[in-house]
Amino acid sequence: MIQTQDVEMFEIWSKDLTKIYGKGERAFEAVSKINLCVEPGIHGFLGPNGAGKTTTINMLVGALSITYGEAKIREKKAGSVTARKLIGFLPQDPVLYKNMSGEKYLIYMGRLGGLKRKEAKRKAQELLQDFDLLGDRNKKLGKYSGGMRQKIALAGALIHDPEILILDEPTTNLDAVGRAVFIEKIKDLGKKKSIFVSSHVLSEIEQMCEDITIISMGKIILTDSIKNLKKKFLENVFILDTNMNEKLLEQIKQKEFVSNAWIDDRDGKIRIIPKDPVKLRETMSKIIFENKAELYRFDQIELSLQDIFLKFV
Ligand SMILES: Nc1ncnc2c1ncn2[C@@H]1O[C@H](COP(=O)(O)OP(=O)(O)OP(=O)(O)O)[C@@H](O)[C@H]1O
Ligand SMILES: [Mg+2]
Repeated sequence: MIQTQDVEMFEIWSKDLTKIYGKGERAFEAVSKINLCVEPGIHGFLGPNGAGKTTTINMLVGALSITYGEAKIREKKAGSVTARKLIGFLPQDPVLYKNMSGEKYLIYMGRLGGLKRKEAKRKAQELLQDFDLLGDRNKKLGKYSGGMRQKIALAGALIHDPEILILDEPTTNLDAVGRAVFIEKIKDLGKKKSIFVSSHVLSEIEQMCEDITIISMGKIILTDSIKNLKKKFLENVFILDTNMNEKLLEQIKQKEFVSNAWIDDRDGKIRIIPKDPVKLRETMSKIIFENKAELYRFDQIELSLQDIFLKFV
């Protein structure tokens, strides 16, 4: 088991990272004691609207002050010049200068990232080609469509060839085709760079990432590899339906061989994740009998990652 104190092992690491907006009575804790351990690869940061994704990311890239706790990018203090140099950042709402052309913007970003003018120009050409924007290179950014803006902003984040990419909801503003193209692009980039990518769409995270952290109301509720999650949840969930689900749920939750049980809002049936499936099967008939319950259904099912997400969020 990896410990949070082994900071040298991680691309992005945080300990008790906390953000409080406002002061006094208005104070609001948007992010609470977040511990991140992001290993090389593509790591998804999933959570519903308002969960605290952008707040967390902005602290990691140094765009927002940290209230408590600490964060590091490859052992460098988040927000420091050395840490910033390691990162390519795509904000949720990139600020693009309306009157700048796409090409000028990329060169400008390259210069900001420390490239010589000639090198910035060369890289800009390469990226315009790569992102299928060569034909629009002289167009003003104010006249770019939402999808084009997203592409040029990502290209801008890549121009200084950063080792780690931090992308905040990169697929917003994109249509279905644009999304698919962007996801492929991110997967491709992930072969060479570590990527930390936020989204509120599970299916996208599932397509792109090996690891996932789920955040809700400012707190991490789950962090694991998608492979592990699937192993843990997909094969090992039971469904139970009777004429007294709520009453039985209370009893089932108390059992030491049950790790988690709840009623799914969508169908009103009980889901059970057992520590010991054999024991659960053995005991269930006894519970049904003792309560004189009418049994409609009891069997093992596959829980989708979507089910897990809904349950935990
Ligand atoms: N500048 C601010 N001042 C006060 N509260 C803020 C500020 N920015 C964000 N918040 C609050 O902090 C919480 C987290 O917001 P944040 O933007 O980090 O969420 P998010 O997960 O990125 O959401 P989304 O998916 O909508 O982008 C929200 O309740 C939001 O209203
Ligand atoms: Mg956000």
